[in-house]
Amino acid sequence: MSCGIIGLGKMGYNLALNIQKNNDIHVYNRSPKRVQELVKQSPGIHGHESICEMLSAMESPRTVITMLPHGEATDAAIQHMVKTLNPADTIIDCSNEHYRTSRNRGAYCGSRQINYLGAGVSGGAMGALNGPSVMIGGNRLTFENNKNFLESFCKNVTYMGPGYGDGHYTKMVHNGIEYGMLQGMADVFTYCNQDQRLMMDVLDGVMGTEIDGYITNCAYEVLNRYEIYKISDVAEMNSTGLWCSQVGLEYAIPTPVINSAVNARITSRYVKSIETAQKPNIFIDCVLAKSALRFVFAQSILEGYELMSTRDFDKKDVTKAWSTATIIECPLIGEDCYQVMRETVDDVRVFVMHCARCGIPCPAIAAALNHYDFTHQRRTSMNFLMAQRNHFGQHKILEA
Ligand code: 6PG
Repeated sequence: MSCGIIGLGKMGYNLALNIQKNNDIHVYNRSPKRVQELVKQSPGIHGHESICEMLSAMESPRTVITMLPHGEATDAAIQHMVKTLNPADTIIDCSNEHYRTSRNRGAYCGSRQINYLGAGVSGGAMGALNGPSVMIGGNRLTFENNKNFLESFCKNVTYMGPGYGDGHYTKMVHNGIEYGMLQGMADVFTYCNQDQRLMMDVLDGVMGTEIDGYITNCAYEVLNRYEIYKISDVAEMNSTGLWCSQVGLEYAIPTPVINSAVNARITSRYVKSIETAQKPNIFIDCVLAKSALRFVFAQSILEGYELMSTRDFDKKDVTKAWSTATIIECPLIGEDCYQVMRETVDDVRVFVMHCARCGIPCPAIAAALNHYDFTHQRRTSMNFLMAQRNHFGQHKILEA
């Protein structure tokens, strides 16, 4: 068996370095500079100038990882490869792909008798180097045939199911949770008047709690390393959070925190209102901020599990896939999020009042609180809405 990687961006480059610790690896990248740089790192890394050349240098059976942007870039590489690969070979698609695209891509490879696994990869660039979490969808036998190889460089390998899109669905939802957690963190930073020292105090407070994990540690490191005010305040995104919101709407799963996070990223692109002034928070309370973080992390995770319930996944597999070597890893994954919300909700009310009083936005935390309160009413105000709709909609008034 031989293995190769196409695409040497940050993730692909680090993944190749990781794989070469236990296997020889063939590599190709559109810009040859990355290949030249990488081959210098180890005699076990074999560089190539074209996909064709790489495939013909590899011994059968061949497993080729594509670590390319989702969409056209991955499609083009796969269309190129199916001309040369044979039924013993496997493509492992590690893009952050939409699960419906991986379904079609897997079917396309299947029609050409090429094995295809859709793999969601988490852990960021450092995870790629030290052992990421991979969430796999596709034929079980193809997975079994590649399991040892995957386990040779990943800290966490989870087979999610036979659907070609099952792994990418799991990763997409992971990213939705990540969006919610990150926006929650940004809300608390605003509450702290974007004061790095204060935010570090809040993070000190969450150390050792159920939300202490990759994201809180990464935030701590960032606060230590950067002068945040020098960084652009326009957020970018690669669509996975947006796809979660779309799936939530499509399947009637409420995802208020994920939606608020996507909206905040989109809104940050627009020109700010004229004559704005940053309003200071005059009430800062680190204990409330810590509770708000626990609350919003819990709601983000709950939304993720709800999105997973639209599929026939085993909850244990979902918990396993997300809880080790991912960006969202923290002890709260798989634990009782409702309990955390019950413990913290009173503090969160005061936190949100402080924000509202000072004119400070906290979109994710306010969305989480609103959702909590909406779902904790004995009777929702939908009765009033429905009564009015009876005059101009096609609705019947149901007796309570
Ligand atoms: C990971 C990350 C990583 C990245 C996503 C989200 O698990 O390693 O999720 O894949 O964070 O691509 O990116 P955007 O925030 O740009 O959408």
